Amino acid sequence: MALAYAPDPPAASRLAALERGELLSLPRTGFAIEPHERLLLSPDVSDGRAKNLSLGPAGGRVAGSSLDAAGQALAAALMSRFADWAAALVAEAAPAYAAALQRGRTSLRPCEISGRALSPRKDDRRLHVDAFASRPVQGRRILRVFANVDPDGRPRVWTLGEPFEDHAARFLPWIGRPSAVLARGRQALGLTRGRRTAYDSVMLALHDLSKADAGYQRAAPRTRMALPAGSSWIVFTDAAVHAAVAGRCALEQTFYLPVEAMAEPERSPLRILERRLGRPLV
Ligand code: SIN
Ligand code: FE
Repeated sequence: MALAYAPDPPAASRLAALERGELLSLPRTGFAIEPHERLLLSPDVSDGRAKNLSLGPAGGRVAGSSLDAAGQALAAALMSRFADWAAALVAEAAPAYAAALQRGRTSLRPCEISGRALSPRKDDRRLHVDAFASRPVQGRRILRVFANVDPDGRPRVWTLGEPFEDHAARFLPWIGRPSAVLARGRQALGLTRGRRTAYDSVMLALHDLSKADAGYQRAAPRTRMALPAGSSWIVFTDAAVHAAVAGRCALEQTFYLPVEAMAEPERSPLRILERRLGRPLV
């Protein structure tokens, strides 16, 4: 007999799935937008240049918006409420991470994904792993919480690609040794917040090479996932090969997690790349 109700998996198996690079979909867990915040769910609130509106973990100015001071205060309040909500969600879904988790930026994504013209490198409709050009993670994991808050009820559609090991094996032969001199220069010029480590350089190269490879984008294995409005999901986007192909109105919270806080650190992109390259990367 089929189960009428599938109980949530226990914490240990959720954690193992996340660390294998799977997306943890929480179809019954949505983030509620208050009626007075609805006006923020419009592409008009974007400045038209940035993909998203965003807010740093210490608050401050809302980046990427066309809003006046009152609108910005509203957007900041929404994003900081979402940041707290996302932290509580991770604390519940992955309690083992709670003590080590570091809060990064929050974003509001009000623009339709499917019709957007962007350079290949910025185009998240192409399969990729996440890596940040100006904010080196220095080996830490990128754990992200998303909530689909589309008022029109449409799903956000993602595709998920091959395992990270296979992805790395495919592109590593084209990646040279990163320059430590350039990394110091970028830091000195204020182009990066902190030192871009060899790990950050390799991850950025993976990100750029996969997005630029038209043949890979056409033929790479993938599965489609429709993430319903009113749901949320948690995923290590530095290891899950992903693309966001359609949808509008999501909130996203970035967290950083030291590799040592994982149940199985050897599954991290850092350790996988270090094993393959035979040298330390941070
Ligand atoms: C991405 O990280 O590639 C974009 C995800 C999204 O906006 O749904
Ligand atoms: Fe991404």
